Amino acid sequence: MILVTGATGNVGRHVLTLLTAGGHEVRALSRSPQAAAWPVEIDVVAGDLTDPAALAEALAGVESVFLFAVPGSGPSFVAAARRAGVRRVVLLSSGGVDDDAEVQDGPIATYHAEIEQALRDSGLAWTFLRPDVFAANTLMWAGQTKAGDVIRGAYAEAASAPVHEADIAAVAVAALTEDGHAGQVYRLTGPQSLTHADQAAILGQALGRPIRYEELPAEAIRQMMSAHVPAPILDNILATWASATGRTAPTTADIEKLTGRPARSYHDWVLDHAAAF
Ligand SMILES: NC(=O)c1ccc[n+]([C@@H]2O[C@H](COP(=O)([O-])OP(=O)(O)OC[C@H]3O[C@@H](n4cnc5c(N)ncnc54)[C@H](OP(=O)(O)O)[C@@H]3O)[C@@H](O)[C@H]2O)c1
Repeated sequence: MILVTGATGNVGRHVLTLLTAGGHEVRALSRSPQAAAWPVEIDVVAGDLTDPAALAEALAGVESVFLFAVPGSGPSFVAAARRAGVRRVVLLSSGGVDDDAEVQDGPIATYHAEIEQALRDSGLAWTFLRPDVFAANTLMWAGQTKAGDVIRGAYAEAASAPVHEADIAAVAVAALTEDGHAGQVYRLTGPQSLTHADQAAILGQALGRPIRYEELPAEAIRQMMSAHVPAPILDNILATWASATGRTAPTTADIEKLTGRPARSYHDWVLDHAAAF
């Protein structure tokens, strides 16, 4: 039995579908399973990753876990997983984690690194997926593209190698179901370094409209996003965009190596989500 946490999320949804299509026995964890539209008929356990009682129920009979990183949940998850006899954990971590840093850069990398450490110390077989920025983050532009052809945001020239959530899920499924992934760290990127302005232009090409990115001062964006994003995380995101400005984002071949097919492009991702824009 494989337990998928974060199962209603961008990546977890695909993990569920791929595992089920592959004939694996799967269970999903969600805090509110009734509210979710499940892509396949599935055994679901209601509960929070930080709640030991819910975890005991969710982990009964489970051999492998796809783990969503809830801040601070590493030690309690590891204790519950060891009690339940879990053998393998594939963590959806972050490309922000830096193995060479004594102190991680910002709260996002810090909480992912803490969960990684709990798993390294656990005696369980672990695999860490460290994706670059999700292409799905640009869904936050959908309100603007529905209203017009201009996307207003910060740092037009901030670069990343945006990654398709289905590629992350395909790697997760390989790591959950094949041998040889224990103790491995996979850095998952899209195929190309793209700035925010590049992404807006590609979005326009894929939708057949002349969409452009208009840069606003970071402070204006901070005010717009502060209602939805906690201040330390928002500071972290803005600092990441500032430091990603004027550079080329590194790309890796890990997705192709692990799935046997090239990483999907941002153009592919837009075509898969065109209705949202
Ligand atoms: N966005 C990026 O650019 C980026 C880059 C690198 C890494 N990441 C990593 O990827 C994660 C986002 O993945 P995603 O986009 O697939 O997720 P998502 O769409 O944001 O969905 C969040 C998922 O986590 C579950 N969840 C949240 N808190 C939970 C809790 N306390 N207990 C149990 N489940 C909980 C939710 O389930 P329910 O609501 O059903 O309970 C939901 O399935 C980030 O948190 C980060 O770890 C993101």
